[in-house]
Amino acid sequence: MNREEASPEGRPVAVVTGAAKGIGRAIAERLGSDGWALVLWDVLGEGAAVAARLREQDIPARFEQVDVSDEEAILAAISSWPVGWRKVRGLVNNAGIFPRSEALSMSSAVWNRVLAVNLTGAFLCSRALAPLILAQGQGAIVNLASGRAYAGAKLGCAYAASKAGILGLTRSLALEWAPAIRVNCVVPGVTDTDQPREAGIDDATLYARGASIPLGRIGRPDDVAKGVAFLLGPDAEYITGQALFINGGALMG
Ligand SMILES: NC(=O)c1ccc[n+]([C@@H]2O[C@H](COP(=O)([O-])OP(=O)(O)OC[C@H]3O[C@@H](n4cnc5c(N)ncnc54)[C@H](O)[C@@H]3O)[C@@H](O)[C@H]2O)c1
Repeated sequence: MNREEASPEGRPVAVVTGAAKGIGRAIAERLGSDGWALVLWDVLGEGAAVAARLREQDIPARFEQVDVSDEEAILAAISSWPVGWRKVRGLVNNAGIFPRSEALSMSSAVWNRVLAVNLTGAFLCSRALAPLILAQGQGAIVNLASGRAYAGAKLGCAYAASKAGILGLTRSLALEWAPAIRVNCVVPGVTDTDQPREAGIDDATLYARGASIPLGRIGRPDDVAKGVAFLLGPDAEYITGQALFINGGALMG
C-alpha cells in the first residue's frame, strides 16, 4: 500500500475543491501544516503534483480529478476512499470560475456553467460530504464567496450572482446543520492568482490596484488560506453562518 492509500494517520480529513492552483493550493498547503489529511479535487490533473508535494512533507494527501458540478463524479470519488479517509471533518468549497462577458452577450451556457460550478458545486459537495462529517460528530465547511457578491461585477453578472448565492447557501446550511457542522464563508478581495489575470490585465496593472486598498497591496493566496484555516479549525468553535472579509480593507462588511 502506498502512502496515498494508507489511512491518514489519525489526522482529521479535509476535502479542498479547486486545489490544483491558486487559493485552493494555498489552502491545502496551510491545512496540511495545521495537521489535516487532505483530499484534493480539481478538474486539472496538476492537482496530483500538489498532493505529491504534500506527501513528500509527510502530510497524507490524495488527489482525485473531480468536476464539482458532476454529482456522479463526486459520489464515485467518495466511494473509492479507503475507510480511514472517510473520517471527514472539513470541507472547503473553493473551486470557481469567472469568465468575463457583458450581460447582453452572455450566453445561457456560460451563465449556467458559472452557477453550476460556483454555486451548485458547493451545494453538491456539501450535501455529499455532510453525512460523513455528521458521522464524526462534528466538523466545519468553509465556502469561497467574493467581494463581487456585495459590489457586483461588471462583465461578471453570473459570477457575482453565484457568489451572492454562496452567502445564502452558507447561512442556510449553517442553520440546518448546527450544532454539528459549522458553515462559514470567506470573502476575498482581489488576490494574486490566475483568476484576475484572466480579465486580460498585466501584472503591473494588477499590483497597482493595491494602491487603493487600505492595507496597501492586493491579497496573496496565503492571506485567504489563513482565514480558511481559522474558520475550519477549533479556534472558530463558536462561529457559524458568518462571512469573513479578507481584502486588506478594500470593502468593509
Ligand atoms: N483570485 C481572486 O481575486 C478571487 C477573489 C475573490 C474570490 N475568489 C474565489 O476564490 C476561489 C479560488 O480562486 P483562484 O483565484 O484561486 O482561481 P484559480 O482560477 O487560480 O483556481 C481555481 C481552481 O478551481 C478549479 N476548478 C475550476 N472549475 C472546477 C470544477 N468544475 N471542478 C473542480 N475544480 C474546478 C480550477 O481548475 C483551478 O484549479 C474561487 O472560488 C474564486 O472565485 C478569487
